[in-house]
Amino acid sequence: MSTATVANLPGIEDVQSYWDRRPCNVRHSTQPVGSREYFDEVEARKYFVEPHIPGFADFPRWKGKRVLEIGCGIGTDATNFARQGADYTAIELSAASLELAKKRFEQFGLKGSFHVGNAEEVGRVVGPNKFDLIYSFGVIHHTPNPRAVIESARSIIATDGELRIMLYASNSWKSIMIDAGFDQPEAQTGCPIAFTYTNDEVRELLDGQFEVTEIRQDHIFPYVVEKYVRYEYEPQPWFKAMPEEMFASLEKALGWHLMITAKPI
Ligand SMILES: C[S@@+](CC[C@H](N)C(=O)[O-])C[C@H]1O[C@@H](n2cnc3c(N)ncnc32)[C@H](O)[C@@H]1O
Repeated sequence: MSTATVANLPGIEDVQSYWDRRPCNVRHSTQPVGSREYFDEVEARKYFVEPHIPGFADFPRWKGKRVLEIGCGIGTDATNFARQGADYTAIELSAASLELAKKRFEQFGLKGSFHVGNAEEVGRVVGPNKFDLIYSFGVIHHTPNPRAVIESARSIIATDGELRIMLYASNSWKSIMIDAGFDQPEAQTGCPIAFTYTNDEVRELLDGQFEVTEIRQDHIFPYVVEKYVRYEYEPQPWFKAMPEEMFASLEKALGWHLMITAKPI
């Protein structure tokens, strides 16, 4: 496991205040924050830029099942689990993010159970419930002790439950660009912690708690950032020139997202 940011590991308070200052995807819409139109635009932009998410989460599969999301952010995937009839619970470190997720559920008349807390002790916060799915997209690599999250999650998963998590990939186009000084892990500068993993390091992280059943790799952000922040989607010239199939192959080999499915041991 390597960190794409700093050598001296910041504490959980630093992680919390970073995400409170700017909740993830909060600028995905220009509509009034908290309105239905705002949340609809946030969702449309998120799944346009990260179209692999709905397939990985497989929202309809969890109808009537107990789903725990670790780090729901402002609740885009949360909304879709709940819309499809999951019995939905979330833990989120950033109170500012969670407020928006709760507001989103209110706006759309959805039911969920929300906890502000550190996922490193998720078992204590949401236990003794047992969950059919523990889902976490782009979260566990941001916490000081990812192994604590895994161990705590193991204590509250049903014996036939499933873990689906996304972690950042070391072997990726984005890591290469970060190391070369052309990019940064998150939209906002100064992300305190962003670990990256090889497939072997994923297995090490889950060792003794979960058995990995699949690791898929996807997602290279292709757009010119200066235009993207103005809601214009123009690919970088080097990606524009690339046939679609070639870009898709590159994403499978060097994508930033490792999508991991695992079952409890
Ligand atoms: C990149 S955002 C992803 C949010 C959401 N999963 C999504 O895909 O939109 C990372 C989120 O992880 C949360 N987070 C980081 N460390 C956490 C921890 N130890 N416990 C709970 N949430 C955490 C942050 O507050 C932030 O909302």
